[in-house]
Amino acid sequence: MAYCINPAVKATIAPPIAEAFSWIPQSPRERAFLNLSQAVPGYPPAAALKAHIASLAARRATSFYTDILGIPPLRLALARRMAGVGGDIGLEDTAITAGGNQAFCMTMNAIARPGDNVIIPMPVFFNHQMWLEMMGMEARLLATDPALPLPDPEAAARLIDERTRAIVLVSPNNPTGAVYPPPLIAALYALCEAEGIALVMDETYRDFTGRSEAPHELFARRDWRDTFIQLFSFSKSYSMTGYRVGSVIADARLIAEIEKLVDCVAICAPHIGQDAALFALEELDGWLAEKIDLMAGRFKAIDAALHHPGLAYERVTSGAFFSWVRHPFPGRSAREVARTLAQRHDLLVLPGSIFGPGQEHMLRLAFANVEAGDMPEVAERLIESQRDEDATL
Ligand SMILES: Cc1ncc(COP(=O)(O)O)c(C=O)c1O
Repeated sequence: MAYCINPAVKATIAPPIAEAFSWIPQSPRERAFLNLSQAVPGYPPAAALKAHIASLAARRATSFYTDILGIPPLRLALARRMAGVGGDIGLEDTAITAGGNQAFCMTMNAIARPGDNVIIPMPVFFNHQMWLEMMGMEARLLATDPALPLPDPEAAARLIDERTRAIVLVSPNNPTGAVYPPPLIAALYALCEAEGIALVMDETYRDFTGRSEAPHELFARRDWRDTFIQLFSFSKSYSMTGYRVGSVIADARLIAEIEKLVDCVAICAPHIGQDAALFALEELDGWLAEKIDLMAGRFKAIDAALHHPGLAYERVTSGAFFSWVRHPFPGRSAREVARTLAQRHDLLVLPGSIFGPGQEHMLRLAFANVEAGDMPEVAERLIESQRDEDATL
């Protein structure tokens, strides 16, 4: 190859899930391999959604581009859903993207330039950090208490300088599962408002907080558009990761800038995915409520399993699709521990080290893919790794 590669892209880590998948043993196993690496619900989309998608595929219109910012009925339905009770969101404040990751990337490009920085609490969702680095922007990592990894607004304030464009939150959090309390979100909003920077909240897991109350009340503020940007994904709530639908809600003036970016990178989100997302918002409240319950059952089951008295792995936080667990091998890197769990104990988890510096002792268990009845087996395999007489672990 005689040409150059962008050094910022080259210096960025390889896609971590793909690397973890490469650790899965290829030889036949005597027992089921448990894959807790990727935050994907293990169940299929609703039967009604699958039938609807099949009918969409037969329509000529489905094969055309849509408006760059998405089909208006979906944008309206999304605005209505996110406004909840008392919120005010217009169609012009919404953009549909090809997934939540694209929503993040387009938003960052619309608000920040190379050399600008964005504050993100630790541990950080790896794709956020990867994108910022590749764009020549700084992911300014905010240290948090390892025992309770929530951002401290005063510590966040100390990181802000003239090149800071936003604070980015993920709640419920990936990788920790922590659900940010509404007063904390309000305090960080107040900080961003006072500093004239954006509060960007990735609410990919907002349906899985485990609480009946709204995750926050920010859309009920008359002036939310001055500060708040919400990102959402249809991937997890409706088990439709492959249909690639996400969204941004922000001031219409930012949405108009995002339109330019989406036009260049995707022209529009997949038409069939957008129609599916609209159907989901209009028809699947009952199905979603059932899945929220099912996921709460998985959450309870893994939490109970991780409290096994023989387990030296320590669950630090848990919520939504994730348990954030400290491994008991201080001398070993998280990557080494995760690789060994996959290769010897038929259990795939992600090493904490991909979620930022200082996370060598942590593992992320994405349990959404595993049925409640199998959670004790997850704990068994962790215990097995402790017992492994071969000193590699
Ligand atoms: C916090 C967060 N944001 C965004 C995404 C990506 O979602 P999408 O499939 O909609 O691109 C994920 C997926 O794991 C995620 O955890």
